[in-house]
This record gives sequence, C-alpha cells and structure tokens, in this order.
Amino acid sequence: GTPRWEASADLVVVGSGVAGLTSALRATSLGLRVLVISKGEPSEGGTAWAQGGVAVVLPDGPDDDTPERHIADTLTAGVGLCDPGTVDAVVRAGPAAVTDLRDLGAVFDRGADGRLDRTREGGHTAFRVVHAGGDATGAEVERALLSAARGGPALLTGHTAVEVLRGRSGGVAGLTVLDADGVPGVVRAPAVLLATGGLGQLYRATTNPAVATADGIALALRAGAKVADLEFVQFHPTVLYTSADATGSRPLVTEAVRGEGAVLVDATGARVMAGVHPLGDLAPRDVVSRAIGAHLAAAPGGVDDHVFLDATHLAGGAFARRFPTVSAACRRAGIDPEVEPIPVAPAAHFSCGGVLATVHGRTSVPGLYAAGETARTGLHGANRLASNSLLEGLVTGRLAAEAVAGDLDAGLVGGPCAVDRAPLPASGICDRDVVQRVMTRHAGLGRDAAGLATAHAELEARSVSRPLSTRRLAEDAALTLVARTLLAAAAHRTESRGCHQRLDHPGREDEVWRRSTAFRLDVFGE
Ligand code: SIN
Repeated sequence: GTPRWEASADLVVVGSGVAGLTSALRATSLGLRVLVISKGEPSEGGTAWAQGGVAVVLPDGPDDDTPERHIADTLTAGVGLCDPGTVDAVVRAGPAAVTDLRDLGAVFDRGADGRLDRTREGGHTAFRVVHAGGDATGAEVERALLSAARGGPALLTGHTAVEVLRGRSGGVAGLTVLDADGVPGVVRAPAVLLATGGLGQLYRATTNPAVATADGIALALRAGAKVADLEFVQFHPTVLYTSADATGSRPLVTEAVRGEGAVLVDATGARVMAGVHPLGDLAPRDVVSRAIGAHLAAAPGGVDDHVFLDATHLAGGAFARRFPTVSAACRRAGIDPEVEPIPVAPAAHFSCGGVLATVHGRTSVPGLYAAGETARTGLHGANRLASNSLLEGLVTGRLAAEAVAGDLDAGLVGGPCAVDRAPLPASGICDRDVVQRVMTRHAGLGRDAAGLATAHAELEARSVSRPLSTRRLAEDAALTLVARTLLAAAAHRTESRGCHQRLDHPGREDEVWRRSTAFRLDVFGE
C-alpha cells in the first residue's frame, strides 16, 4: 500500500559495514544530513567477519615493497579485467585511508620490534597485510567505525530497503523502506549509496553471514542501473568443513594461516598444491580453490568431500595466539589445529562484480552510488586479491561520500524530490533454498552451458511474483534476481578466467573476452 511513515536526508546509505560507515562519516563531516539503514545489527555484516587484514603499503613496511608492487599483484590476480585507473587510485589512497582509520581508534597488531606486524596472503609478493586482534581485523574495523559514528550520522537498524525511488527527471528521489515492524515508509533523499556487501547466500555453503543476500545489486538492477562482472564469484579455498552436509554460513580459516606456513594436504598426506603454481600454497585463491576441486574430483570422496590444512607447526599455543578466531571455531567443531590438520573445503566468499560504478561510486543512474563489495569499480577484475576488500571499503566509501557532496553542490543531482505514491514493488521470487540448491549445483567452481541453462529454466519455472512486503520476501527477491543475472553473465562469458571457470570453454580467450559486459534488468524484459 501507500507509505505509512516518512523521513528525509541528503544521503541515505544502505548498509553499515566498512564502506557504508566510512562514507556516512565522511559525508557527515562534509556537512550532509546522512541516514544509514541496516537490516540487522551492524555486527551481523560481512565486515565484522573479515579475518586476514588490510592490504596496504605503509611507510614502515619491508623495504622491497612499493605501491607499484601492490598494484602489479592486484592486476595479476584480476587476470586482465581490472580497471588500471581504479587499481592505481585505490592502492595509492590506501595508506591515508588506513591512517584515518587508526586516527579514529582502530588498533592494529604490532610485532616485537614495535612496528605494525604484516602477514602475507595468496597472490601477494610481499608481507603487506596489516591485521588486528590476530585474525579479527574486520571486527576491529567495524568497532572503530561504529564508535566514531556514535552521535554522528543517524543509524536505523532493523530497516530493510525495498526500492530506490526515481523522480520525474529520472534521478534518485529516495528509497522505500520497511521499518523494524515491517511497516513501509519512504525516505526522501536526492542521493542513495548502496553498500550492502556480498551475495554469498546465493550458495549453500558460504563464508558470508546470513545478511549477505545481494540486496544492493538487486536494488540497483530494479532502479535501472547497470551491473558487471557478476560471473566472478570468488570461492575461498579454506573454509572449515565439519560434516558431510557442510552448508550455511561456514567459519573461514584465514589465508594468513597459509601465510604463516601451513600447507594443504589430502587424506593420504600428499601436498595439494605440489607442482600447481610457483607460489605454491599461496597462489591466488582461484588457483588454490580449483586445485582443491580438481584434487577432490579425482579422490574417492568426490567434490563434496574435503582436504586438510596442516598448521601443526604452530604448536605450543602459537596457533591460538596468532589466530584466536579460527582457533575458537575449530575447537567448537572438536578440532585442535595444533595437533591435527584442519578439514577444509572451498565455499562462496566474495563477489568480484557488482553495481557498475566509478571509483567515486557513481553508477549509471544519477543520484545512485555504490561502494565496497556491492560495487564493481574495476579493482578486482576476474579475481580479487586477498585483503583488498577492507581496503576497497575504506577508500571507495570515502570517495563516494565526496562525490555525493560534490554532485549535490554542483546541482548534478537533487532536483525536485517529489514522489506522490510509492506502492511496494512486486518481483519474481523463488524460495532461497531453491536458489541455493540451483546455484551450488550449476554456478559454483565449474560451470557449463547446459547446467547454466538448466539453472535458469528452473528459477524461471519456480518463481512467483509477489509484493516485497517483508524482509524475507525482499531478500528472496534479491537472491532470485541476482541469481538470474549471474547465470546470464556466466552463460555469456564463453571462456575461463579468474574465478569464472567454464568446463566447456576451459581456455582464456583474450582477443574476445578481455573486457567486462554490463547487464541491465531490461535484458530479462522485466
Ligand atoms: C582471509 O583472511 O583469508 C580472507 C581475506 C580476504 O578475503 O581478503
């Protein structure tokens, strides 16, 4: 029905993770009235779960590390699809962004020499990943940002964004929102920033929290914005595996464990990464995940089984001290990583693609901005380098806030905000169990045309059009729409590159496919 409550702001930020809070703080400091809306509590988001750290070249680091090397590692991981301008801008803005975060109170771990401690992760050619609380970096980042935001931008928790409203001029006019009791209302605003994180809930097993239901990408698609690179879903190679049916949100075993010398082995003790890649166990994650997949496919247990991560060299309490989060998760599962190898398997981890945006967060719709994992700025290309995502949230969140302020000042957005009526939209919805089963089966580590077509047909056949009148329906609608778009993107790209592997097109085809393809909702005729 018609909206039953109203609010207004200069900028509405959807999402309260690293990108959302960084942008909200920056926009507030630039004098904007900012409203942040969050489906749950901020601590439920993906940021707080991030383990490894922040990849950044800070002045007191190893002598041989430079921003140019960080840029080169990022471009290599992205296999030809990064936007070099974005990579350059994000990497070079990294040190200032991390310094700002430390000024807000975030505390990073120090080594015995008093300097910031640095670890290495897959694809990095230097020790440059700074971390906090051992393996609890994201929790510290979120804590520092939330505490800085206290008394600053207004934060509405338990509120679900259902539709970006566009005014008569075509620009953004606000957002339809369900409040904590499910009552629909309208927030009028000339600028909306999408920072809703990832889409891991498209799959049965994921490192992402339950809130990672692709909301921002769906909001952008329904607002007419373009998305790109959705076929590049990164599977983290080492996710704790504790049963034959290891589904749902699974504990991550940070890559930094391999950075500290742990190795992947199979049930016979044979090294999984032997002879696969010059960086061995620290090869880029798409390479490691695929190697595990191939190893499992050839083993008696098959692809639903697991391998092991042997970290028993970190005995005598060393593992528990360096990796308290992973250690606690292992112990809850009855595993002692100091005396036995950790059972692990790949699981959905990160969306390299998203809402097509500039590094400043501008999308193809005036007044609509995107930052962090939700956005596709060209930082990751076909595969994200480890620990570039907290960095991305810090840098692009800040740049997007500055773009909003600049665009409002210049009158580029923010015509009349008139929205007379804002009925709840309807959308084709499949239950998420169906989406997760179909996507896991047909759009995981290995894909082919027949499987992708079957998946698309199944979602089509099972979807029912319903109004987005509850958080659950809004989430399932987002998952359904983004699944369909991802399937279309994966079917379109008839080559293998980065984290998109086509079993029927195993080679990389640079002449045809060294480019991104953008999709819009009208591709589906909706
Ligand atoms: C990890 O700690 O392995 C995850 C870091 C990341 O995804 O960048």
